[in-house]
Amino acid sequence: MQKIIILDFGSQTTQLIGRRVRELNTFCEILPYNKYPENDADVIGVILSGSPLSVYAEDAFHIDLNRFRGRKPILGICYGAQLISYCNGGKVESAGTREYGRQQLQFIDGNNPLFKGFEAHSQVWMSHGDSITRLPEGAVCIASTQTVRNAAYYIEEACPIFGTQFHPEVYHTLQGTLLLQNFVVDICGSKQEWSAERFVETTVAELQAQLGNDRVILGLSGGVDSSVVAVLLQRAIGDRLTCIFVDHGMLRKNEFRDVMNDYKGLGLNVIGVDASEQFLSDLSGVKEPEQKRKIIGRDFVEVFQEEARKITDAKWLAQGTIYPDRIESLNITGKVIKSHHNVGGLPKEMHLQLCEPIKWLFKDEVRRVGRSLGMPDHLIKRHPFPGPGLAVRILGDITREKISILQEADDIFIRNLREAGLYDEIWQAGAILLSEVRSVGVMGDERTYENPVALRAVTSSDAMTADFAHIPYEVLAKTSNEIINKVKGVNRVCYDISSKPPATIEWE
Ligand code: XMP
Repeated sequence: MQKIIILDFGSQTTQLIGRRVRELNTFCEILPYNKYPENDADVIGVILSGSPLSVYAEDAFHIDLNRFRGRKPILGICYGAQLISYCNGGKVESAGTREYGRQQLQFIDGNNPLFKGFEAHSQVWMSHGDSITRLPEGAVCIASTQTVRNAAYYIEEACPIFGTQFHPEVYHTLQGTLLLQNFVVDICGSKQEWSAERFVETTVAELQAQLGNDRVILGLSGGVDSSVVAVLLQRAIGDRLTCIFVDHGMLRKNEFRDVMNDYKGLGLNVIGVDASEQFLSDLSGVKEPEQKRKIIGRDFVEVFQEEARKITDAKWLAQGTIYPDRIESLNITGKVIKSHHNVGGLPKEMHLQLCEPIKWLFKDEVRRVGRSLGMPDHLIKRHPFPGPGLAVRILGDITREKISILQEADDIFIRNLREAGLYDEIWQAGAILLSEVRSVGVMGDERTYENPVALRAVTSSDAMTADFAHIPYEVLAKTSNEIINKVKGVNRVCYDISSKPPATIEWE
């Protein structure tokens, strides 16, 4: 399949470039700046990302452009543009102060294919400390702003090279998507054949070829990623897929029952295992968050393995790993700051081969694929939920009584978000029981001395960063009233207004 390669020099917005290219129904891969693939037959163009570094600094990331120059069209963005310029005899200098924010293009070469359809004075987003003060030989300036002469340039070659000082991938560059479309579709020749339907079609065929008559095991979590993998695999190999859904006793109210019904409705071959006794007894008295996670992780592997062992002829373990779990983002020292995410220590000794059919997808694409597979909306749009479940939302030790209090409060919160039409706008929401804190309240004529519940709702695009959701006061007020009136043991409700970073989404 045709693809664009995005070489990552460590910019905060590299993933955004990837998303924008995918939105143009074009497949792309984001790779560390020095990992351009050996075999690039299906690569139709290369984009070099921005970076917090200076191209002239000692620790700058440099690459050999000749790996693809002359064979693939190139677009350098910010640092990428500076790098191409610098390596070809141009001059890059500190601009003195960092230029950050919206700018208007004062001059645009409307005949250049990169700017096809652009309006005069189009708004762009700048974020740079260095500028290209002299273009390399053969390069022509194709756009300027009031402060930046070489806001974009062009080198005419068998395969053209473009550089933009501004960031087309950022929302504030109003015609940024058009610029990327001009590059990806017109200049690189993308046939725009990447779509959810096409993905399903090719993935099912690939899975059939890869798996043959083998049997596959999949751990389901109730979340969208593993559910989509289940339906894809079922399309490919039918009942040779066995799914295992473990109830550790710390799921949301009625979740085990509802999700099992959903799975059965989808015709999946699912074994539901109620292992809550084991988990809760092993967690008894444990307060320390990391210790809780370790116990849950260990018990999960134990329970999963015990069930999986019964499927004696299984050869594959399928996982719902998605692309953001795997992208290696660079920090400025060149170290990988986000390493390959893997589902915590699942059975290596079982000698199963890994099958990860959605490992190239972003979350919104997983949802599109789910929709195209005919999965119900409430499954597709379900908020992410942590593996250890309510265990990391009960601060303190875990008991059945606390779980049930939190399940009720959480259920009221989520229902109120749905009724207010806010659920789908929010990345993730839930309630947290501060079970080690008690405060005084008054209910009727009675003094109460009970626990508070904190509500957490965030907006995000990938859970790496998040803002608290700006929920209207009326919705918070209604939720708070309902929780305090209906959930015995709770006499106070707070709303968490921290962003991530520095806070995290989960409290533990
Ligand atoms: P944090 O709390 O790190 O969460 O901001 C980021 C995202 O990851 C989820 N999360 C987990 N998911 N096992 C999981 O499967 C875990 O141990 C875990 N901890 C956090 C969290 O719900 C959010 O979506």
